Amino acid sequence: GSGKDWLPTLHVAVTGAAGQIAYSLLPRIANGEMLGEDQPIVLHLLEVPQALSKLEGVVMELQDCAFPLVQGIVATDDLRKGFADVSVALLVGAKPRSQGMERKDLLSSNANIFAEQGKALNEVAANDLRVFVVGNPANTNALICAANAPRFNPERFMSMTRLDQNRTQYMLAEKAGCKIPEVDRVIVWGNHSSTQYPDITHARIKGESARKVINDEKWIREVMIPKVQQRGAEVIKARGASSAASAAAAVVDHMRDYWHGAGDRWCSVGIPSDGTYGIDEGLWYSVPVMCPGGHYRRILNLPIEEFSASMMEKSRKELVEERDAVRHLIPKEFGEKM
Ligand code: NAD
Ligand code: LMR
Repeated sequence: GSGKDWLPTLHVAVTGAAGQIAYSLLPRIANGEMLGEDQPIVLHLLEVPQALSKLEGVVMELQDCAFPLVQGIVATDDLRKGFADVSVALLVGAKPRSQGMERKDLLSSNANIFAEQGKALNEVAANDLRVFVVGNPANTNALICAANAPRFNPERFMSMTRLDQNRTQYMLAEKAGCKIPEVDRVIVWGNHSSTQYPDITHARIKGESARKVINDEKWIREVMIPKVQQRGAEVIKARGASSAASAAAAVVDHMRDYWHGAGDRWCSVGIPSDGTYGIDEGLWYSVPVMCPGGHYRRILNLPIEEFSASMMEKSRKELVEERDAVRHLIPKEFGEKM
């Protein structure tokens, strides 16, 4: 043996496993960057039938990496086989937008995927299941998935805004001329869409108020906020495809922090609203949380300035519209809670 004390094997599912995000993500999961270097895993790779032959190539490459932690690989287009016994499900598989589209334009093609996946997870996943939704529109897809998986506490379903948080952190560090880890308490509120609100009113740079350090409100409102809101579109325009390496990095960052704990660092993630901050219960709205390890705690009672409140309200309204557009996929029992 390697002399290491290995934990019991964990089953980890990734949908859209032949897609571009997965191509960056799978090797990082497989070498332990996300769940730990002492955590053996079985990878469950899910795809649609048309992409199974491409997926076969991805499986070959994963085998050829000879990752010590990988105890097995399941590659399938069958949801019940793919999600059997999984404790972590990363739902990446969905259509990406192309230039000129908003992410919510994907609802009609992608929403149904998440209803079907919720049902299958409900039937066959492990009791300790955690779900992280990346496929767009991620917040509302997480709502649909949770609503169709009543066996699990909705709190276990998260949607990704970590990429937006990372984008904001980078921009602040660049502007302040400091190191990335010196920037903390950046918040991304709301939807992973162009209405999101990257909020630095509580952020700190080297422990001091980021706003004081930056000392340029015009830059914050007229450059930073719109740039973060439009960054996904900017990448699509430049690359001809949506962000993949950075999206994979954000998945690893969030799930690592969630799983192992993030100390006193704040993380933003889309989770079911508990009604605080004026957000309707049951909307998947991105808020700041602390990660003690294996779960999250909402950061409550932050003072919200008028400008922030109006930005947060725009995103709330958009999420209500998205929810109303997919009511047919939300079972009545779950809908009654909203
Ligand atoms: P891609 O087209 O390269 O790959 C998606 C893969 O998903 C394809 O291989 C496709 O066959 C597969 N797929 C489609 N439906 C599926 C289903 N029902 N089950 C299993 N697999 C299925 O796209 P990508 O660039 O990897 O992006 C994937 C999704 O992630 C897109 O919706 C994109 O908009 C979104 N995204 C979200 C964020 C975020 O921050 N939340 C960031 C980047 C991308
Ligand atoms: C991103 O933020 O880069 C992704 O959500 C892809 C997109 O459509 O913008």
